[in-house]
Amino acid sequence: MTNRTKARLSQRIADLHASPIREILSVLNQPGMVSFAGGLPSPESFPPCDLSAVPAEFLQYGASEGELALRSQIASDMHDIGLPCEPSQVLVLSGSQQGIDLVAKLFIDPGSLVALEHATYLAALQVFRFFGARFSRLQALLEAQDDAMQVPKLTYVIPTFQNPSGYCMTAAERDALAQACDRTGTVLFEDDPYRDFVYEPCERNPVCARLDRASWVYQGSFSKTLAPGMRLGFLVASPDLMPYLVRLKQAADLHSNRISQWWVLQQLQDPARHARTQALAQNYRVKRDNFSSYLDHYFKDLASWHVPQGGLFFWLKLKQTLDTRKLLPLALEQQLAFMPGEAFMPEPTAGTGQIRLNFSHATADQTEAGLARLAEVFRRALQACA
Ligand SMILES: Cc1ncc(COP(=O)(O)O)c(C=O)c1O
Repeated sequence: MTNRTKARLSQRIADLHASPIREILSVLNQPGMVSFAGGLPSPESFPPCDLSAVPAEFLQYGASEGELALRSQIASDMHDIGLPCEPSQVLVLSGSQQGIDLVAKLFIDPGSLVALEHATYLAALQVFRFFGARFSRLQALLEAQDDAMQVPKLTYVIPTFQNPSGYCMTAAERDALAQACDRTGTVLFEDDPYRDFVYEPCERNPVCARLDRASWVYQGSFSKTLAPGMRLGFLVASPDLMPYLVRLKQAADLHSNRISQWWVLQQLQDPARHARTQALAQNYRVKRDNFSSYLDHYFKDLASWHVPQGGLFFWLKLKQTLDTRKLLPLALEQQLAFMPGEAFMPEPTAGTGQIRLNFSHATADQTEAGLARLAEVFRRALQACA
């Protein structure tokens, strides 16, 4: 780009950084590549996609809020998970990533404080940074006892099978978070794309359902349970926020893809839906257990980790605090991909020694061979630093 064009870019473009995950995804299609990097569902998990019955009227423009039948179904699903709401509180999204964008537009000015988990979903950080957010620790919000603290405008959390850590908040932690939001008046933004992938009994009731006063947004995704290519998610919000969110959605893309909405509704109303989701979770449980035993075998001397109770990721802490971004090119040379932990950190860091590994996408054979080779990459790097 010429300097003349550069001078015409908006000031906020200075805060627009490439998403590390999208850049890694671009090399993943190379033949022979084994990826533990993205949060990709297993390709065998996609339901059949027969669009021959889509009514012709779905080719027309639709409502910004989304199809009423889909919104009603989502409201009914919300009731079932303990977050009762009206269909009027549901906004269909073009992927739940859009929810992050809309909520950021609604709350974040340059310098606005956003409380979040350290580490957190890297593409949420990308959006929040773009709008100029400053970050504070969730812990500081939980510990705030008086008016002395600067109240974050927004609190962004992934309480259930967190990305990247896989952690699932206990009932007491959820209560404490809801109380902190009520006490301080920060707006709670709960992101919940992994809740259906549960492998051990654990608390999953939304934190938003525990609020008495604070405004809130809860969002879910159809990417992991159905198909990410459909680009469909949803948010549910406290009624005070809905008019703004609907207008932001209008301005962003008029409405989400109606063919995707039709297809997703068929899937949600399929009598076999719950059996299918359970079978998928069971399949991922097996993948998690296999991954866990290969990690025990190949990584025991290199790293420590907790076996996640759900979700799609292992979060490893290497025995040395390296900058794992430097190890990524070495892994890619061996046709292996992982996510460096530094990408999930709200503050710049010299190195965390943490990595995120996805276990849903690779086949069993790829997993064993890939983890064996990845361990060698890390072993050599750790020896070089010792
Ligand atoms: C925590 C979290 N939120 C949101 C998203 C975006 O999902 P999508 O836009 O596919 O619904 C992801 C994707 O991996 C995620 O991990």
